[in-house]
Amino acid sequence: MTRIGWIGCGTHASEMLLPQLTRLPITLAAICDTDPSRLAAAARRFGAAASFADATAMLEQTPLDAVGMAVGPAQHEALALAALARGLAVFVEKPPAATAAGAARIAAAAARAGRPCVVGFMKRYSTANRIAANILQSREFGPRASLIGEYMTAPTYFARDPNYDGFFLHHCVHAMDLVPWLMGEAVISVQTRSFTLAPGKLALHVGFGFASGALATVVMGTHQSRGTPMEFWQVMGDHRRVEIRNVFTVRYFRAPPFKVDDPAATLDPAADTLVWEPNLTAAANEDHKGYHALLSAFLAAARGEPTDAPTIAEGVRAMSVLEAMRRSLVTGAAEPPRPADE
Ligand SMILES: NC(=O)c1ccc[n+]([C@@H]2O[C@H](COP(=O)([O-])OP(=O)(O)OC[C@H]3O[C@@H](n4cnc5c(N)ncnc54)[C@H](O)[C@@H]3O)[C@@H](O)[C@H]2O)c1
Repeated sequence: MTRIGWIGCGTHASEMLLPQLTRLPITLAAICDTDPSRLAAAARRFGAAASFADATAMLEQTPLDAVGMAVGPAQHEALALAALARGLAVFVEKPPAATAAGAARIAAAAARAGRPCVVGFMKRYSTANRIAANILQSREFGPRASLIGEYMTAPTYFARDPNYDGFFLHHCVHAMDLVPWLMGEAVISVQTRSFTLAPGKLALHVGFGFASGALATVVMGTHQSRGTPMEFWQVMGDHRRVEIRNVFTVRYFRAPPFKVDDPAATLDPAADTLVWEPNLTAAANEDHKGYHALLSAFLAAARGEPTDAPTIAEGVRAMSVLEAMRRSLVTGAAEPPRPADE
């Protein structure tokens, strides 16, 4: 059993992460939140052995193997550094820090400690994205030429956030990881165009460049209802493409013959479109969004086992791409992600 100390018992941790973490082979040795009512509610609900208002006290007083945290960009860096300094494996929700430089300081500390720091890019672990990525990485799919994506949200959180810091750091950062992951190569330039419908209602068209010459365009914005599907990705190769709708439906299009003049037309598994959707009536505690699989990969990393869990180095890269996107909003030019200084 891995002994976990958890920091931050807010909405995301209480609704998405702790319910999945406690299904895994762990002992929730301690939890921590500065808000007493959230701390008490999480301690009761998830059966934590000890509760702390202060993360330093938790780290000093509890024997732990690993620390998880979902607090926010302003606090993640200091908390991750404190846990790594004690030789603990760390899971940090996205964004791993407020800046790429902050994320790079965590990466350096993880390397010094020789301990893993895993970043909460759970979209890589959603069933649909994983199926798509496996197809895209197959020899059959071949080189990837282009990606189009839509990743929307609502103005709820951003109407009083005129510089959209929260939108960029909490929302857009997912795309900064997912785009290079789906395309199988690093982003080398980012160009952003924007349009503001009304205060808090921003639309972005973001173009990503790659060394291979492949192209990606992602539309992100704060002007859609969260009661509607919010996410769409499509990657094209040569006479084939994979699309993922709302992390729910995967379609793999290839090059089937026309059917209209063929009286014997049927569906050919080697050429016609393949579709996957989950069975939501299955009486099973499935997490198709990917939190359970991501936390499972984190525990493997904490145990020193091989894992494909998103590393803090990948967190640094995503933050550098995000910062290039923001620079491009100001300059209007294509901006290269800069290496983050420690
Ligand atoms: N991957 C995802 O799908 C996803 C979804 C939502 C949020 N998140 C991320 O999770 C993080 C938390 O988001 P949230 O919506 O739960 O926020 P939240 O404000 O609801 O929760 C944060 C919690 O941290 C506590 N806290 C603040 N400072 C602290 C400190 N120094 N020590 C201990 N506790 C402290 C707060 O009291 C609060 O309970 C953010 O980084 C966010 O981007 C990820």
